[in-house]
Amino acid sequence: MSITALAETSIEQTRLTLIATISVSLVCSILVSASAVVLKPRQLDNQELFRQRIVLEVAGLYEPGIDIGEAFTRIEPRLVELETGAYSDIADPATFDAAEAASDPELGIEIPAAEDIAVIRRRARFSPVYVVFDDDVIQQVILPVHGAGLWSTMYGFLALEPDGRTIRGLQFYEHAETAGLGDQVDRPEWRAQWAGKRLFNDDGSPAVRVVKGQAQPGSDYQIDGLSGATLTARGVTNLVHYWVGPTGFGPYLDRLAREAGGNE
Ligand SMILES: Cc1cc2nc3c(=O)[nH]c(=O)nc-3n(C[C@H](O)[C@H](O)[C@H](O)COP(=O)(O)O)c2cc1C
Repeated sequence: MSITALAETSIEQTRLTLIATISVSLVCSILVSASAVVLKPRQLDNQELFRQRIVLEVAGLYEPGIDIGEAFTRIEPRLVELETGAYSDIADPATFDAAEAASDPELGIEIPAAEDIAVIRRRARFSPVYVVFDDDVIQQVILPVHGAGLWSTMYGFLALEPDGRTIRGLQFYEHAETAGLGDQVDRPEWRAQWAGKRLFNDDGSPAVRVVKGQAQPGSDYQIDGLSGATLTARGVTNLVHYWVGPTGFGPYLDRLAREAGGNE
């Protein structure tokens, strides 16, 4: 075979290889995009189911095997405008994405550094809350909360009595604190201590807190420390204080207290 013929064969081979590579890439990218589009609704359904399950868990209404959608009918998601504490209809609370809204110039605000004790920098102006009913009577109110631990932003729910003053429970569903140290926030015995604690002292300032060491027996405000994880524990106190404070759900909690005939 002449040198010219050899060169032509090599060019033809390169051309065929290129065409094959481009075709395979094209088919693969079409397949990946198509499956992303097809799976998106299912992904959203699963996210919604996960959120409902966690809210039911915090409310003490979850048992393995229950029909989550059915159990969730006792829970009414509402959207709250944090500044006024009033319910709002600007969006569907079931699908409102507070994390996305936080970075939106219209729907989010920057938190001044001096107020940012949860170390989250921005927050949405609105937040979903979950009102739990039993025979049309409010049983509890569940607030989404988040803030910095030692390594990660911790996301959870704070369940309150309808007075907006007394805690029923605190549960995190996402964090990346160290196993055996910061992740003691997930220990059921530790979590159980939150039930019945008071959020505010007589001056109305957030007072419930995780102490270092053991809580004083019978204390209305103190929760046992997390041994070897004081920094995560401090993050928990700070994020609870931020979200129940005046620039978090404070105005909404005041409304609840007034409606419950509390001592506001
Ligand atoms: C590998 C490693 C992981 C740690 N993870 C955590 C953690 O998740 N949360 C935490 O508060 N402290 C964690 N610590 C310990 C902190 O650095 C710090 O010593 C501790 O919070 C102090 O708590 P103490 O006063 O109860 O000992 C970790 C330390 C190391 C070396």
